[in-house]
Amino acid sequence: MKGVILAGGTGSRLKPLTEITNKHLLPVNDRPMISWAIEALVLAGIDELMLVTGGTHAGEFLRLLGNGHAYGLERLLYAYQDKPGGIAEALGLAERFVGDDPVLVMLADNIVEYSIKEAVENFTKNPVGARIILTKAEGPEHLRHLGVPEVKNGKVVHIIEKPENPPSDYGVTGIYMYEASVFEIIKTLEPSGRGELEITDVNNHFIDKDMMAYDILEGFWGDAGESIDAYWKVNDFVRANGANKLRN
Ligand code: G1P
Repeated sequence: MKGVILAGGTGSRLKPLTEITNKHLLPVNDRPMISWAIEALVLAGIDELMLVTGGTHAGEFLRLLGNGHAYGLERLLYAYQDKPGGIAEALGLAERFVGDDPVLVMLADNIVEYSIKEAVENFTKNPVGARIILTKAEGPEHLRHLGVPEVKNGKVVHIIEKPENPPSDYGVTGIYMYEASVFEIIKTLEPSGRGELEITDVNNHFIDKDMMAYDILEGFWGDAGESIDAYWKVNDFVRANGANKLRN
């Protein structure tokens, strides 16, 4: 399985910090945010990774990560997104790198308390369609910033992006697994109201074809790019408890 980490965007919700650097290079505890996402994928068994980024600070990633060997990667490739066009558009840049393989995608501002290894193994056993990772969220206010699944009889029947009235207590994390046909779906997407190709639209395609599975995350999950409060909440959590922990 190939890995893709998405580290683009303008980081507008963390301005003015993001005037001087890329959001995913801001510190989380003792290292730049991006390092945690790379560790998450390496611990899940990924050794070939493409990092998609953009903007004026893109070169700093090369300075930090180099060829990726120090992080346990065999191959680290870079792709450059000309202008922020959404998560699905950014993923589309990895099409040739991924080829016919299944792919694990992670947004570089997502941080998990426990390793995602088990969920990834669940997909590797049957790498068909898509698999997402859900988290139990606290309260509708937080859910209004996320993709939220409607779940019926243990199945995700639809995902609504940033819903006014969240249809469940679960948020869709920025960790996604797909078969290679995901790239054909991306080509059919139209920009959303916020002018982006939405990953939620990709996921709803798989749901409509009855090809969506999910895992529910245990422990802490945070999106450090959601707001300045979320950024500090993630920092405080990781400082006190660590991240990507392996369970016995
Ligand atoms: C994105 C996705 C959303 C998901 C979230 C997780 O939101 O669109 O479905 O719940 O990441 O971090 P964004 O960060 O683009 O607002």
